[in-house]
Amino acid sequence: MNTVVSGIRSTGNLHLGNYFGAIKNFVQMQNDNNCFFFIADWHSLTTHPNPADLHTNVRNVLAEYLACGIDPEKACIYVQSDIPEITELYLLMNMNAYLGELQRTTSFKDKARKHPENINAGLLTYPVLMAADILIHRAKQVPVGKDQEQNLEMASKFAKRFNNTYGEELFPIPKPYSFTGEFIKIPGLDGSGKMGKSEGNAIGLVEDPKAIKKKVMKAVSDSGPTEMNQEKPEAIQNLFTLMDVVSTKDTFDFFNDKYNSCEIRYGDLKKQLAEDIINFNAPIREKFLEISKDDEYLRRVTRLGAEQARESAAKTLEEVRRLMGFRKF
Ligand code: TRP
Repeated sequence: MNTVVSGIRSTGNLHLGNYFGAIKNFVQMQNDNNCFFFIADWHSLTTHPNPADLHTNVRNVLAEYLACGIDPEKACIYVQSDIPEITELYLLMNMNAYLGELQRTTSFKDKARKHPENINAGLLTYPVLMAADILIHRAKQVPVGKDQEQNLEMASKFAKRFNNTYGEELFPIPKPYSFTGEFIKIPGLDGSGKMGKSEGNAIGLVEDPKAIKKKVMKAVSDSGPTEMNQEKPEAIQNLFTLMDVVSTKDTFDFFNDKYNSCEIRYGDLKKQLAEDIINFNAPIREKFLEISKDDEYLRRVTRLGAEQARESAAKTLEEVRRLMGFRKF
């Protein structure tokens, strides 16, 4: 079976865009791959989170992923900081990672530009830690979005370099996961562009229904079509795209026909869309609230995950030490 690794940043809540763009595929992937999904809490340290929030962030992300259907019986789910083997591999990989190549990565340059007061070494070696996350399980594939492509290329480079330096094909060269399902880009409600946390237009998966309704009712629209079967402007198309993923086909067709015959009332469409988003979210939100309360369950999940991940990691590390020349007395 194909080994797949993916890290999830422990920052903030998941939104509909995350769900349709990635998590739905993760849930599918776990059925026919050997998946390792982890919460990247060490990676979150580059921006110095408040210690009082660190654990809560990890806990929320974990509960949200479980609520979406990531299944600890199918995939190995763990918290990065529970796996000390990753730090050792990170240290060893750092010896063959060069300042120049790390400084040249776009994410480093971006972050250094945005936060000139906090250009720490962890930020510089972020791609090395990410490579250690991937290589520790000798993963062949990594499901990543566009923004992580360069980090994955670095991981491949470090894997090749290690294999060449120590003369054995220990690490498979990690490749982007090729999804079979389609990627659906979820638009925002502000008239253009995609839904995103940093865009400030996101609808959270476990967000309060009243807040969702308010956001949807405020979505950008226009004064309505003036000609039959008129092409939809972006803001209107966005509402229909959302409707396409959360509503039934009948509902979609009903409003689409109304649009085409110039009889549409956007207030009615938004009311329906809000209701359908809330209904779509309901089982996820319910499960999230239930899981969040269940300390015992979360403890069980993370313990089992750590046990499985450490077993896989220890095997790799043993080979790494051997190849690099470490011997026991
Ligand atoms: N850097 C990734 C992100 O920001 C998170 C991540 C950390 C990751 N380690 C990883 C993703 C290993 C894939 C594989 O989203």
